[in-house]
Amino acid sequence: MSVRIAPSVLSAAIERLTDEIRAVEKGGADWIHVDVMDGHFVPNLTFGAPMISALARLTDLPLDVHLMVEQPEQYIQDFAQAGAAVFTFHPEATVHVQRQLAAVREHGMLAGLALNPGTPLTLLEEVVDDVDLVLIMSVNPGYGGQAYIPAATDKIRRCRALLDARGSRATLEVDGGITLETIGTAWEAGADAFVAGTAVFGTPDPAEATRALRRCCAVRV
Ligand code: DX5
Ligand code: ZN
Repeated sequence: MSVRIAPSVLSAAIERLTDEIRAVEKGGADWIHVDVMDGHFVPNLTFGAPMISALARLTDLPLDVHLMVEQPEQYIQDFAQAGAAVFTFHPEATVHVQRQLAAVREHGMLAGLALNPGTPLTLLEEVVDDVDLVLIMSVNPGYGGQAYIPAATDKIRRCRALLDARGSRATLEVDGGITLETIGTAWEAGADAFVAGTAVFGTPDPAEATRALRRCCAVRV
């Protein structure tokens, strides 16, 4: 199974964004993770479509956009035009989850569903065929630099079993507190894509940090 490392620009030095992106490209990053927060669904406020467009001009890496916003449907068209490759939203943020997943695909993006630590996996069962990516949150969203919640590991394991049982080829991504110490556990539990903010951009050498995270996933046991 492939491993995708997705450095999160939330932790990058915005005033040196070009250098930060070049560094993780050099380190072999697969995706660039972009955390969009609206100050309502989560307390923090971050980026919108202009940032996605700027990143799309800066890099050829696919942009893995994670919306922590109310009514994510409002952004589907704009983010597709801006160059998002993956559009992941939280089911609590919209009434018609299946409709929005279908709309994301219709706009040419991969449809992602993000599950908070308190959100049950059973929700995924109803829409598994409409999902290209499941994002298991291993922190409560809103901020970088939080500690990995250990209960996420069992949820990843159960999610992997569910995807396999249903014949889904969806990516299983994990987000929050991914470090050299935690990534191996998440990988062994069945995740195949890993968001890392602090563990990449919070180090003096983001390229090497990206490589080091991948090395922790070399062998599935
Ligand atoms: C948390 C965000 C994460 C964040 C991860 O709300 O969704 O993507 O950037 O940051 P770290 O890797 O520092 O936990
Ligand atoms: Zn995220």
